[in-house]
Amino acid sequence: MADKNDEMIVTPWEVRGKIDYDRLIELFGTQRIDQKLKERIYRVAGEKHMYLERDLFFSHRDLDWLLDEYEKGDKFVIYTGRGPSGPVHIGHIVPWIFTKWLQKRFKTRLYFQLTNDEKFWFNEELTIEDVHRFTRENAIDLLALGFEPENTFLVDDIKDISLLYEIAVRVAKKVTFSTAKAVFGFENSMNIGGIWYPAMQAVLAFLHSEITGTNTPCLIPCAIDQDPHWRVTRDVADKLGYYKPASIQNRFVPGLAEGGKMSASDPMSAIFMTDKPKLAKKKVMNAFTGGRSTAEEQRRLGANPDICSVFKYYNFIFVPDNKELADIERKCRSGEMLCGECKQILVPRVLDFLERHQSAREEVKDRVDEFSASRLMDEIKR
Ligand code: TRP
Repeated sequence: MADKNDEMIVTPWEVRGKIDYDRLIELFGTQRIDQKLKERIYRVAGEKHMYLERDLFFSHRDLDWLLDEYEKGDKFVIYTGRGPSGPVHIGHIVPWIFTKWLQKRFKTRLYFQLTNDEKFWFNEELTIEDVHRFTRENAIDLLALGFEPENTFLVDDIKDISLLYEIAVRVAKKVTFSTAKAVFGFENSMNIGGIWYPAMQAVLAFLHSEITGTNTPCLIPCAIDQDPHWRVTRDVADKLGYYKPASIQNRFVPGLAEGGKMSASDPMSAIFMTDKPKLAKKKVMNAFTGGRSTAEEQRRLGANPDICSVFKYYNFIFVPDNKELADIERKCRSGEMLCGECKQILVPRVLDFLERHQSAREEVKDRVDEFSASRLMDEIKR
């Protein structure tokens, strides 16, 4: 029977319940990424990507149009972002890995928005010092993936406001309060920062066009919960004479707890990028799986990888090889491999991944300013 807690809620600020991705596509009015579109992306990018193969990125707006423009020689820029509300975990990194691939294959600029204003307004507990600290720490995690300063621009909403404000002002004039209430479900008790915030998130879809004085297509990789923002942004784009931003949207990356939840309030539910090996190992060993209550039963009946958080980690990051993944799945379903043994495959991979990441962090941690979008102030042609 449907539990009340199963009811699906997906807004930019709350994701809850059992997620039905087909229904989200319908509700939001986005398009599915079908086989034909995947193949077109591969052709233009010159390479496949496992996140498309495995439908982690599954939905889009206007990708066909974006690729038409690209093939005509009209290059796009990439825009994505992060709300710095806490430390970065493996789930956050997954779409950034894809973003890096897009940037590399399409040789294009990335604008990365760090929405410290948003997190300050929407999160009662966070102080201004907290959001500044997380902005810097989160930026280090992004940069540790290996971006180049020539093509990568970190936008700090609070510190870089002079770069953004004029566009935000123009956007805000085109969005009524009733639209904002209808799209985002804002209540009267909300602080007015939150009501203004969608203007800030729209700005970066137009920033490049504004700086260069040339209308430029923009592609936004993001989790599908951000789509309400792009509905508003696309509407405003028309009114301000910019291209509507295209988007490519991913599923939520599950955590280690039951139902795949990953939450900052439960530190055991996610592996953070700065976790020490001992703690990361403990988290994996405690992870929720699709196993049976006894070993005997599991040998006899097999387990269920469909609900297993360990298997999801394999699927999304740690087992890129399809044959190996199929093999793990078969051994799981048949009861040939028990959960403890299976977790032993994941542990060293997670530890290796974290170790590399943490040493890359050390290398970039004093270079964050080189990536600052504030250097664009000199480029503006308005
Ligand atoms: N609102 C997003 C968050 O809370 C951050 C964000 C800003 C973003 N701009 C974006 C995410 C563009 C994806 C794409 O995390």
